[in-house]
Amino acid sequence: MGFHDFENSGPSREVYVDFGLVTTVKEGSTVIMKNNSYHILFFRYNRLSYKIEIAMASYEPFGFLTAEDLLKKAEELGMDLPFQESIDVLFEEIRVGSRTAPNRFAVQPMEGFDAEFNGAPGELALRRYARYARGGNGLIWFEATSVIEEGRSNPRQMKLDANTLDGFKRLVEKTRNAAHQEFGSKQDIVCILQLTHSGRYSRPDGRLSPKAACINPILDRSPGDVHVFSDDELNIFQDVFLDAARMAYKAGFDGVDIKACHGYLLHDLLSAHTREGSRYGGSFKNRIRFLTELCEKIREEIPDLMCALRLNAYDGLAFPYGFGVPEDGSKEIDLSEPKELIRQMISLGCGLFNITVGIPQYNPHFSRPFDRPLKGASNPPEHPLEGVGRLINITGEIQAEFSETPIVGTGYSWLRQYFPHVGAAVISRGKAGLVGLGRSSIAYPDAPKDLMDSGSLDQDKVCITCSRCTDLMRAGSVSGCSVRDREIYSRAYKLAFPKKGKPLVM
Ligand SMILES: Cc1cc2nc3c(=O)[nH]c(=O)nc-3n(C[C@H](O)[C@H](O)[C@H](O)COP(=O)(O)O)c2cc1C
Ligand code: SF4
Repeated sequence: MGFHDFENSGPSREVYVDFGLVTTVKEGSTVIMKNNSYHILFFRYNRLSYKIEIAMASYEPFGFLTAEDLLKKAEELGMDLPFQESIDVLFEEIRVGSRTAPNRFAVQPMEGFDAEFNGAPGELALRRYARYARGGNGLIWFEATSVIEEGRSNPRQMKLDANTLDGFKRLVEKTRNAAHQEFGSKQDIVCILQLTHSGRYSRPDGRLSPKAACINPILDRSPGDVHVFSDDELNIFQDVFLDAARMAYKAGFDGVDIKACHGYLLHDLLSAHTREGSRYGGSFKNRIRFLTELCEKIREEIPDLMCALRLNAYDGLAFPYGFGVPEDGSKEIDLSEPKELIRQMISLGCGLFNITVGIPQYNPHFSRPFDRPLKGASNPPEHPLEGVGRLINITGEIQAEFSETPIVGTGYSWLRQYFPHVGAAVISRGKAGLVGLGRSSIAYPDAPKDLMDSGSLDQDKVCITCSRCTDLMRAGSVSGCSVRDREIYSRAYKLAFPKKGKPLVM
């Protein structure tokens, strides 16, 4: 589905769409065409033409006026959506490794692309993290930070090395201070830094410069342009990651995440079935080797630094190119390998996990259920609530098996003002330890504080999952919420997407 232009003789609001007649054209209304129901997502008209965006009715933007409506939809979709009235459990402390988070709200890692050119956190980053801390979030998972120049996803992605270490010290200090100023010195938030190499999505100078552990014909549009790392190169990267972990400790972080998700380098290794004759490819033991060895080294050398893992438990890509799928070539969910990896990582001292799924560049509805797709992309082939349910269930199955180790759940932003009730029920049922908030944190960083103060969320502050922050990111701009944080980001949005013509920033 997509945009459809229809010529019409005048500014009447009656429109023929193929075989269907829409009499009251407005966003959210439904039209029956060729026996299928479609929803009108977007409508605009001038004197001569109408522009309508429609999508299959299985897909539906968020339109629930009450929690009952939401639960009714879940039932229609055959889902058992956890939900409870009381949100008290969200304010309970939780042990995270050797630290204690003051509550169950976790900010998910989200790049802002606002670093200095040398990779040090910029002023906008200091502002973003202070807002998260002042907003009452108990754990902050700092964004993907490159361990090396060539692995940066953008010339303004954060990068941790000896030259930028002081900038990171300042970032951690300012973030912790913001929490203390708002809630007193007892508000000890847990700070985790996500370390990464962007692999096939590397753009250190703004141009794509793909490097990978293994060619993935589904993700690599021009496999011939991809540099495949040798074992020697990967061995060196282990030391580079370890060095970055040492610096993260010096900067004051409680832990580091060795990012293995969303198609980036360390995630790539998990499905490196076709990487033959390598200590990092083929067998399960080889494919997880980088992570297990690195975790062991971090725990041995820096025992006071927590090792965490943001992990794709399911990619939605068939074998031999996906992780968390069976070998029969289907795209079914098979958590046996992800669970075995988690078991081994726990035995090596990894104390915190964050479960996600899908590849944002390939099947974005898996990892971040949305109302509006990215510019130029299609609407999802499923109801966004089904995407939310997939994330909750996969995380829940894993948390149930490893009940002693906290797991951060993902994908709550689409639920808007109902996320606290779903999140509280997820925690009560033992399906996650913390509720991870991605886009919701950008739009509404003080959601936890509002919940503490009034028990509910302000509907005018919630994220509307319009994908504009990701559009900004893909356009190479600084990224943030141009809907709820307009003062800073609507200008960036206008610059990146002027009304006519192509984006200015690449
Ligand atoms: C602008 C933006 C930047 C992101 N950057 C990262 C990142 O640095 N690391 C990561 O693991 N995920 C990243 N994500 C994914 C989020 O952490 C999260 O998994 C996703 O948004 C789904 O959660 P939500 O439904 O609460 O938004 C990013 C998402 C967005 C929208
Ligand atoms: S731009 Fe704002 S409202 Fe839109 S998805 Fe991003 S955080 Fe949510």
